[in-house]
Amino acid sequence: MTPVRPNRPPHSKRPILDMNAYDARDAVPDDQKNDLLVRRQRNFGSASVLFYRDPIEMVSASGCWMTAADGTSYLDFYNNVPSVGHCHPRVVAAMADQAKMLNINSRYLHQTTEEYLDRLKATLPDHLENIVLTCSGSEANDLALRIAQRATGARGIIVTESAYHGNTATVTEISPAALKRGDLPDHVVAVPAPGSLAYGDDIAAGFADAVHEAAKVLIERGHGVGALIVDSIFSSDGVFSNPRGFLRLAVAVVHRSGGVFIADEVQPGFGRTGDAFWGFQRHDVVPDIVSMGKPMGNGFPMAGIAVRPDMLAAFCEDVGYFNTFAASPVASATGLAVLDVLADENLQTNAGVCGAYLRDGLQHLADHDGRISDIRGAGLFLGVDLTPDGSPEHTNGQLVADVINAMRRHRVLIGAAGKSGQTLKIRPPLCLSRSEVDFFIEALGKSLRACG
Ligand SMILES: Cc1ncc(COP(=O)(O)O)c(C=O)c1O
Repeated sequence: MTPVRPNRPPHSKRPILDMNAYDARDAVPDDQKNDLLVRRQRNFGSASVLFYRDPIEMVSASGCWMTAADGTSYLDFYNNVPSVGHCHPRVVAAMADQAKMLNINSRYLHQTTEEYLDRLKATLPDHLENIVLTCSGSEANDLALRIAQRATGARGIIVTESAYHGNTATVTEISPAALKRGDLPDHVVAVPAPGSLAYGDDIAAGFADAVHEAAKVLIERGHGVGALIVDSIFSSDGVFSNPRGFLRLAVAVVHRSGGVFIADEVQPGFGRTGDAFWGFQRHDVVPDIVSMGKPMGNGFPMAGIAVRPDMLAAFCEDVGYFNTFAASPVASATGLAVLDVLADENLQTNAGVCGAYLRDGLQHLADHDGRISDIRGAGLFLGVDLTPDGSPEHTNGQLVADVINAMRRHRVLIGAAGKSGQTLKIRPPLCLSRSEVDFFIEALGKSLRACG
């Protein structure tokens, strides 16, 4: 039986916001930037989180490229928010045109809003008939948890051990990757992410056993099982995507325990995995609630949940839900333009095709560099483990951090994931081209050699 880690967040490990983060104790040479950095640190205070040992000032972006103040252009392999491409002209035009015409809250009827929601629902299972829009993934997950707990009458939540689901009070409690110290609360139990290191060859059975054990713990503690919530590509856990279908058994376990299943699609949703529009569809499971965000507005702050009407109705008996900025005409027009661009530019297909090409390139590097110990993922969401001695057990966050900073010198932006930041997280915009993949692979090869 797979051991369920009790309530300890993985503190021998690295919180997600500390990965590739600027450390204020590091010196920054450039005077002008130094001034900006000083002001930034003064304004943001302890909540300032910046990328890179030497932070970059950005001024513009287009497609898969971002341009810094010093004129350097960087290939963006980090951002899944501008998913259809940075500053996509059609999305920007839709946003601006609507902003010129009308931008109000959702307490008036508006054609574009209903058109958008109908289009969005067409991508989702039929039983998820209601959509509630929010402005952030955190708000969406917060609402999803409250609805789940109301529907089940149970407070207990099962998560994975390096999960990140957002920043509200409720959602931080179920995000082990956000916690720098302290234990998870009593009603939250974390299970290892569904990889072969934790569960061996039968990931589906191992993960389901772990969820079963977690459910027992929650019942013993008197909380009952409210929900299993997972990011269906397990992004902050280090990207665990295969084999397709491995979530099915775990979802069945949670349903049998009286809980609901929340698919957090903030990361894999909107076509990124190439083989499905939503990450949960790769596992052939039927969520009770789907939460979504980041790529939904291509940078405009949009998020939301799709939910069973009976669950939403029960929740709304107790408390009303209104979100001032969500579901506005501008949000709706922007979201609609994102769906149009995804379809018209075949971006989901491109994610599959370019993702396969990228994977081949990575495999070629791995054939010549034993430090690449694993390549996982689907479409344009990939995770690459780096390990100094080639042994999958000895992955190394320091090597990943060094490679990320070397990649920046080769004009590629990339991030880290996993318990100790041992995984390169690869997540470029979906409009990526083959020549951009070639650029990336060459930069990664050079960076690995430089970190030898
Ligand atoms: C899986 C997942 N869920 C939810 C969130 C929270 O979204 P937001 O930052 O829009 O509040 C994030 C953010 O990184 C995420 O990765």
